Amino acid sequence: MKPTAFDSLLGHSAAFATVIRAAQIVALTDATVLILGESGTGKERLAHALHQHSRRAEQAFIPINCAALPEQLVESALFGHKRGAFTGATTHQTGRIQAAAGGTLFLDEIGELPLTVQAKLLRFLESGECQPIGSVQAEKVNTRIIAATNRDLYQMVQAKQFRADLYYRLNIVPLTLPALREREQDWELLLQQFTRELAAQHQCPPPIYDRSALKQLKRYTWPGNIRELRNFCERMVILDSGQHIAAEQLPAEMLATPMAELNTEFVLPEQGLSLPELEKDLILQALQKTNGNRTQAARLLGLSRDTLLYRMKKHTIE
Ligand SMILES: Nc1ncnc2c1ncn2[C@@H]1O[C@H](COP(=O)(O)OP(=O)(O)OP(=O)(O)O)[C@@H](O)[C@H]1O
Ligand SMILES: [Mg+2]
Repeated sequence: MKPTAFDSLLGHSAAFATVIRAAQIVALTDATVLILGESGTGKERLAHALHQHSRRAEQAFIPINCAALPEQLVESALFGHKRGAFTGATTHQTGRIQAAAGGTLFLDEIGELPLTVQAKLLRFLESGECQPIGSVQAEKVNTRIIAATNRDLYQMVQAKQFRADLYYRLNIVPLTLPALREREQDWELLLQQFTRELAAQHQCPPPIYDRSALKQLKRYTWPGNIRELRNFCERMVILDSGQHIAAEQLPAEMLATPMAELNTEFVLPEQGLSLPELEKDLILQALQKTNGNRTQAARLLGLSRDTLLYRMKKHTIE
């Protein structure tokens, strides 16, 4: 297969592969793309890959973070302004939409775009016209828009915090990146790859994770997703270079099991779960916590010792 801009995005899990397949198709068009996903799932990386895989690859890719600018400045940053358009506008300023002409403008954290500017952005998306503040004339600009957010935009529409018309206009091709905890086959590949890369970068031998550490990490829910995993790998490469890492050497937050943290009712995940696997996992956790003491493990699980032994046999746990 021909190498593509998407190759640097690691992962083979079904949920991730589906998004990449759709991204490869839409990249070749000029369609507006909305990238959704939790923080750290790779939205900006995907936006960049979309641009690089597009006909616009040789032109500019300009990112702008809608949350980083105060409300008064966002409109001017996007659309530009004429000299004297408002107090303090001492020179003419070209907006980012225009600066990205022929290329791609990446509107990061689009959920934070002020309502007033949302109307103007919608107008641009529908007509391709960009009107700098203080200008009487609108100009046609050929800029492709890719937007991203970790907010639930639909819910923001319901709460009247985001314009419905803009939402539907952006949502033509949504690409939703899965959370790392939904990418079961990927996290270990990412862990090993990041560890290799970062060890080379810092010029030190990589740490080696043993089975107990890998098992514990597999249980962790990675709320910060790929960014958190990468930062974790970097910390371990620096502090535990060349060492064998067992579960006990992992940072404290990774030792807490998500189940143990649940003090509310257990909620069945949307995609369902495997009850036998969950049972096996809980038994293993109880045994690990009690250093293999079956009586104590049974107590932790609310079972009699005999029932625990029976279930251990069922799951072929030694
Ligand atoms: N599939 C991937 N393969 C390798 N590295 C990745 C992948 N996805 C993301 N990363 C890395 O993870 C980190 C976070 O990615 P990125 O900044 O694109 O996430 P994000 O979704 O934009 O996060 P946020 O919502 O916090 O802005 C970066 O260091 C990025 O290089
Ligand atoms: Mg981002």
